[in-house]
This record gives sequence, structure tokens and C-alpha cells, in this order.
Amino acid sequence: MSYFPDSPSQNLHAFAFSHRRAGHGHKPAVIWLTGISASGKSTIADALDIALQKQGRMTAIIDGDSVRGGLCRDLGFTDSDRDENIRRVAEVSRLMMEAGLMVIVALISPSSASRHYARSIIGNEFFVEVHVDAPLEVAEQRDPKGLYKKARAGQIKHFTGIDSQYDVPVFPEVHLNTQALSVEQSVEAILDWVGHNDSRG
Ligand code: ADX
Repeated sequence: MSYFPDSPSQNLHAFAFSHRRAGHGHKPAVIWLTGISASGKSTIADALDIALQKQGRMTAIIDGDSVRGGLCRDLGFTDSDRDENIRRVAEVSRLMMEAGLMVIVALISPSSASRHYARSIIGNEFFVEVHVDAPLEVAEQRDPKGLYKKARAGQIKHFTGIDSQYDVPVFPEVHLNTQALSVEQSVEAILDWVGHNDSRG
């Protein structure tokens, strides 16, 4: 099967990056944080970024709020636009990972099908799905950007958790119960998983 099954060109070859891995001394990965708005994805992404850098790893963060101002600024929040948002981020993550980085993604990525697709783009052995789990009531109470309030008032359509579905991950590599864990403990749980699986593949 072609490495790029959806591409009209069938003569593309995947770039081998094992030599880069050797150069950086660790296995690259894409740590994919999924969860509803205000669940804590960006906060955990930032803290994880600092912790990985302290370990001497080269990192990059791709956050929904930032890509939606640039790479994905033509996209909205319909199901198909979200799928395209996730596909682009997965492709960019793979390129960064091939350059040897530990990539941290923070996207709501609400549909299990699109997360599965992202996993297939990145490669199962490099994809670390992390469910940043916060109850809707808690996220709605936090509401740092006032978006839940607007969604409840009908001023924002297709808002995740209100009038757009979030598929709860069934078998994420890491599940973070943000009610029970501090940010530091959440980062620790991810680092534990990454550390134990550094020899995968
Ligand atoms: S995703 O569903 O395509 O993965 P993404 O993570 O990029 O979403 O963007 C989510 C951010 O966009 C939220 O944190 C919020 O600030 C903003 N946003 C604006 N409209 C919506 C909406 N209808 N649903 C969810 N988030 C929205």
C-alpha cells in the first residue's frame, strides 16, 4: 500500500528519519492532547513543553488557537472543517517529528474518526493520545474566554459539548482526570508513559 493512500500521486516515498532519532538520542513522538474547550490542554501542553526541554528534548507545540489564526484560518467549526484542521495539524506534526522533535498538539479534536486518521498519518507507534478529561460543568464554569456563555446564548454555533459532539476517547494512551490531578501530576503521567515507551519500535 502507498504510504500516502489519499494522494493522487502514487510515487511518493516516506522520509526515513531513523538517523535523526539517533542524532537526538531519543525517539520522537507526537503527544496529542484532546479534550473539550477549557479542559486544560494548553496549560498542560506548556508545562509538558518545559519539562521535556529540561530533559534536553527538542520540542514544538501546535495549539488549536494558534493554528486557527494562520495555517487553518480558512476553517470554521463544522465537522468537515474540524476534520481538515486535524488533518493539517497531523501532517505538520509528522514533518516536525521527522525533523526529530517531540511535538505536543493541543486540539479539541472531538471526533474519534479524525483522531484515528491523525494516528494513521503520524504512525501508531509515534502517536500518544492523551485525553485531558474535565467534566463539561467544570469547563463551562471556568469559561476563560466566555465562549460557553455565548454558545448557550446561541451566539456561537457548533460549540463542542453544547451543540456539537465530543467523542470520549475509548483507549487513549494516557487518561488525565484533571479533577484529581494537578498540572504537575498530569505532566508526570505523560512523561512516565513516554519514558516507558521510548524503546517502542
Ligand atoms: S478542533 O475541534 O478543530 O480540534 P480547535 O482545538 O482547533 O478545535 O479550536 C478550538 C478553539 O477554538 C477553542 O479553544 C475555542 O477557543 C475556539 N472556538 C471557537 N468556536 C468554537 C466552537 N464552535 N467549538 C469549539 N471551539 C471553538
